[in-house]
Amino acid sequence: MDHDVKPATLAVTGGRPDRVQGAPVNPPLVLASTYVSQGVPGPGEPLYTRIDAPTWHPFEQVLGDLESSRHPALVTGSGMAAIAAAFSLVPAGGRLVVPRHAYQVTLGYARDLAERCGVEVVVVDIDDTDAVLEAAQGASMLWVESPTNPMLEVADLPALIEGAHAAGALVGVDNTFATPLVQRPLTLGADVVVHSVTKYLAGHSDVVLGAVLADDDELHARLHAYRTTHGAIAGPFEVWLALRGVRTLALRVERSQANAAELARRLQQHPAVAQVRHPSLPDDPGHELAARTMDGFGSIIGLRPRGGVAAADALVDALRLWVPATSLGGVESSLERRRRFATESLTVPADLLRLSVGIEDVEDLWADLAVALDLALDVALDASR
Ligand SMILES: Cc1ncc(COP(=O)(O)O)c(C=O)c1O
Repeated sequence: MDHDVKPATLAVTGGRPDRVQGAPVNPPLVLASTYVSQGVPGPGEPLYTRIDAPTWHPFEQVLGDLESSRHPALVTGSGMAAIAAAFSLVPAGGRLVVPRHAYQVTLGYARDLAERCGVEVVVVDIDDTDAVLEAAQGASMLWVESPTNPMLEVADLPALIEGAHAAGALVGVDNTFATPLVQRPLTLGADVVVHSVTKYLAGHSDVVLGAVLADDDELHARLHAYRTTHGAIAGPFEVWLALRGVRTLALRVERSQANAAELARRLQQHPAVAQVRHPSLPDDPGHELAARTMDGFGSIIGLRPRGGVAAADALVDALRLWVPATSLGGVESSLERRRRFATESLTVPADLLRLSVGIEDVEDLWADLAVALDLALDVALDASR
């Protein structure tokens, strides 16, 4: 692996076919479930696509390099398939420590493990380092999301990894929100990293994919075996598209982060706004930590308008450019009120809007928001009369 060039360069240059006369610039898309094979297959020889597929390799190599992993990433059929692989490292009856505001389906899966496998699930506020490390004593795994979805709490990753290891726990990190351009947990000693590749890595809201990474040989082998046995594998075409997405990751992340920081600053000053969360804001509870431990602040904003749920829904309805949709990390700006889902954690405020800021012109994004904010303010004022 070539760690000499910068991540933005790696994202463009990694996983290309060898430079020989007439070679294609991009790796080919191989659509085959099986490969010509007789006798005992040699190491690395393609056999059957549930086990391994040539089209996965360039993407897995590039993501492994971006995360500074000793091994290539293992691409999976979705982010949840990657999380299921990571959670398979928690033994029946073991303790799993999870953030209160992790992705709701991750939390649902942890509850499922508690019911089916007797896993003791302990829920913590991930920005309360002392409480997390106390819960990690005797745990099999500490699961970290940072920033959290959708509350944008920032975890002290270096301290959590060191403390959890001292307590004998593995540390798994969902790095979806940050991307490897902003945070590389394996370099801090994390044992497992997962991505919903669906989001920033693929970046165009056109595929559902995941990936799981581990530095340790044994953990990597166990995750690989889990993927093969449980079969939640990725289709080659989706992975080919994801690699195309990764080529522009650095530009997209740079632009969407700049847009998010500017919009968060303007939102904070708007009379229709009750609360904004974005780690770039100097008075955000996660700002100091994010500035110290991350290479950026991400592109997700938490927004609570004045006037509660009615104002929040009115705001979403009034937008013409922002897309009302679940998911995040696409080139297009989108938003949703998370508590519209009955399954969302009840400690997430009912009126919280999660904004995924895209790469459009920031003035157009603001103009659309400003009109909708004025309308939301009317709803709030009407309700208070
Ligand atoms: C932080 C985070 N992790 C994991 C997932 C799950 O990913 P997927 O939808 O690709 O299964 C999501 C999906 O929204 C997410 O936001």
